[in-house]
Amino acid sequence: MSETILVTGGTGVLGRQVARRLLAPGREVRVLSRRTAPPGTPYAWRTGDLRTHQGIDSAVRGADVIVHCATTLGGRDVATTKALVDTARRHGMPHVVFISIVGIDRIPLPYYRAKLAAEEAVVASGLPSTILRATQFHDLVCRIVDIQRFLPAVLYPAGFRVQPVDAGEVAARLVELALGEPAGRGPDMGGPEVRDFADLARITLRARGRRRVVIPVPFPGATARAYRAGHHLTPNATGRVTFEEYLAAQAAIA
Ligand SMILES: NC(=O)c1ccc[n+]([C@@H]2O[C@H](COP(=O)([O-])OP(=O)(O)OC[C@H]3O[C@@H](n4cnc5c(N)ncnc54)[C@H](OP(=O)(O)O)[C@@H]3O)[C@@H](O)[C@H]2O)c1
Repeated sequence: MSETILVTGGTGVLGRQVARRLLAPGREVRVLSRRTAPPGTPYAWRTGDLRTHQGIDSAVRGADVIVHCATTLGGRDVATTKALVDTARRHGMPHVVFISIVGIDRIPLPYYRAKLAAEEAVVASGLPSTILRATQFHDLVCRIVDIQRFLPAVLYPAGFRVQPVDAGEVAARLVELALGEPAGRGPDMGGPEVRDFADLARITLRARGRRRVVIPVPFPGATARAYRAGHHLTPNATGRVTFEEYLAAQAAIA
């Protein structure tokens, strides 16, 4: 049976790996992005914006499955997710697969509150749905280090541990879920190891050939306490790719 799958956020770190893995003969893979289609794209490209709703109808119409990876990285994720599921309800009952984050119900970060409300919007829509919560991606650890490259040191919240997971492995799991039956919220997915952020920062700096000191900064408050308590970690360490293996793979393709 031919199938149409829409990937929102199909240009992002996660979504582009989901879209690539979905390509198969007889399947239409749509990518929703605010950008115009790059030349030679293998996808049925849909330019649109979940904030303004421009282009959303055309992206959603006829989709059997929607893998929702788009994020505004803020509170707007609630409205954008509602816009997506409301539009989907008008165009049939596609299976919505939503990527979320481990610990969003226990860490009072504003972005996490929005992710939780977005999860609730998916469930409340009545659409068949599947929700996967994952830990931080390896890429995010690198991004936190790289963004500080103009500072004389790398700062991080004291006592911060992470369980980074390979975005490619999360993408592969999302593809399995998208091709399967709606499953509600399944087991969380975490990386293979819980590591001190400071160690990963030093490893990243070494890989980049940069010399910087890594300095813990004491953060007060409930959010920092929740991170120190490890509410963003999971015993479901189903990811296999370690941080070092991820960096080595990045270096190999650079
Ligand atoms: N990063 C992590 O460590 C991590 C961990 C667990 C879960 N997650 C979740 O995984 C998902 C993907 O994260 P990521 O790191 O891959 O994100 P990302 O690289 O920042 O990509 C964000 C994507 O959202 C799209 N987007 C943003 N605003 C949009 C709008 N108004 N309308 C349509 N598309 C819009 C962007 O597309 P264009 O710019 O092309 O429009 C882009 O493809 C998010 O839901 C995030 O919460 C992330």
